[in-house]
Amino acid sequence: MSRFICILIAVLCVLVPTKLVSVVAQNICPLSSVTVDQIPTGRSVASKPEWKVNITSECFCTVLDLTLLCPKFTSGIEVNPPVISVDKDGHCVVKTLNPIHNGDSVVFTYAADRIQFQPLSFNEACS
Ligand SMILES: *[C@@H]1O[C@H](CO)[C@@H](O)[C@H](O)[C@H]1NC(C)=O
Repeated sequence: MSRFICILIAVLCVLVPTKLVSVVAQNICPLSSVTVDQIPTGRSVASKPEWKVNITSECFCTVLDLTLLCPKFTSGIEVNPPVISVDKDGHCVVKTLNPIHNGDSVVFTYAADRIQFQPLSFNEACS
């Protein structure tokens, strides 16, 4: 019996702190509160179609450090304005001068075969 309690306490000590940390780090807004829409502009650049991308946040907190899945995107693809960079994992990092507030949109164009942008992660600042 006392052995069981010892084990139980050991397990609790290991599990509880990690649980607490993950709760603190968890976002309030779901990933789906950031949407990415894109439409063709009808123009083409160097025989590649141009696209207008519109990232919008409906998170009531401020969105920071937004990353997107963007398969086949490379740093050679020019983005206007230059709000996208590629990290070491090949994910797109959204770099805006200001954090993205509720209702804000980040709009940019690029010319390439269509890139399937999809929100991957972000941090929140809630006040
Ligand atoms: C981006 O999308 C939002 C939400 O749909 C819209 O309100 C806004 O007008 C769009 N901006 C541009 C430049 O298309």
